[in-house]
Amino acid sequence: MLNFTVSDLKPHMTDAVVQAAILLQRVFAPQGSWVTLAEARQEVDEMLAPDRILRVAIADGQVIGWIGGIPEYHGNVWELHPLLVAPEWQGQGVGAALVRDFEMLVQARGGLTIQLGTDDVTDATSLSGANLYVDTWEKIRNIRNLNRHPFEFYQKQGYTIIGVMPDANGRGRPDITMGKRVG
Ligand SMILES: CC(C)(COP(=O)(O)OP(=O)(O)OC[C@H]1O[C@@H](n2cnc3c(N)ncnc32)[C@H](O)[C@@H]1OP(=O)(O)O)[C@@H](O)C(=O)NCCC(=O)NCCS
Repeated sequence: MLNFTVSDLKPHMTDAVVQAAILLQRVFAPQGSWVTLAEARQEVDEMLAPDRILRVAIADGQVIGWIGGIPEYHGNVWELHPLLVAPEWQGQGVGAALVRDFEMLVQARGGLTIQLGTDDVTDATSLSGANLYVDTWEKIRNIRNLNRHPFEFYQKQGYTIIGVMPDANGRGRPDITMGKRVG
């Protein structure tokens, strides 16, 4: 059984801040985001703002995953951004635990809904390459996971697809918007 804890990341925790940035780059650079360590570090620094949420999963003193949140719509809605688990620790419940913990914090701050965008940049769902301006909701209703796209992870945590942004990542490469009521 994997032993890990989830806690706040604070600016003075310099080792953990660097680890969080390295992990962000390692997980997302292959998908074209946070390609340099400087970009990843800037993202972590921005997520450390006092009005945001940044929680890290720690095992054996190492950051093995983290989740962030940004308040929107006067705090009624929180954007879950980003969520990542180190590849060698995936599939052991860390992602689900980070989402559960995040939901409790959003609830405690009076948030009503959590929303997130999950991009399809690798033809990982049936929405990729589709004309999402035609039969939009039918295509969403019949979405298929072609290559371990995380939308299914979020569905397992109770999230619903509430929209799509066609062409968000280039022609035919959508961003899938998901949400869950927590308040
Ligand atoms: C998506 C991610 C955060 C999931 O974290 P994790 O720790 O591996 O997930 P868990 O072990 O908590 O999985 C919980 C459940 O979701 C399922 N699941 C996890 N990833 C999945 C995926 N990509 N596709 C389908 N199901 C998935 C698990 O099988 C498990 O199912 P179960 O409850 O039936 O056993 C992690 O794989 C990751 O960091 N991926 C790369 C970054 C990323 O894509 N982030 C999300 C961007 S929006």
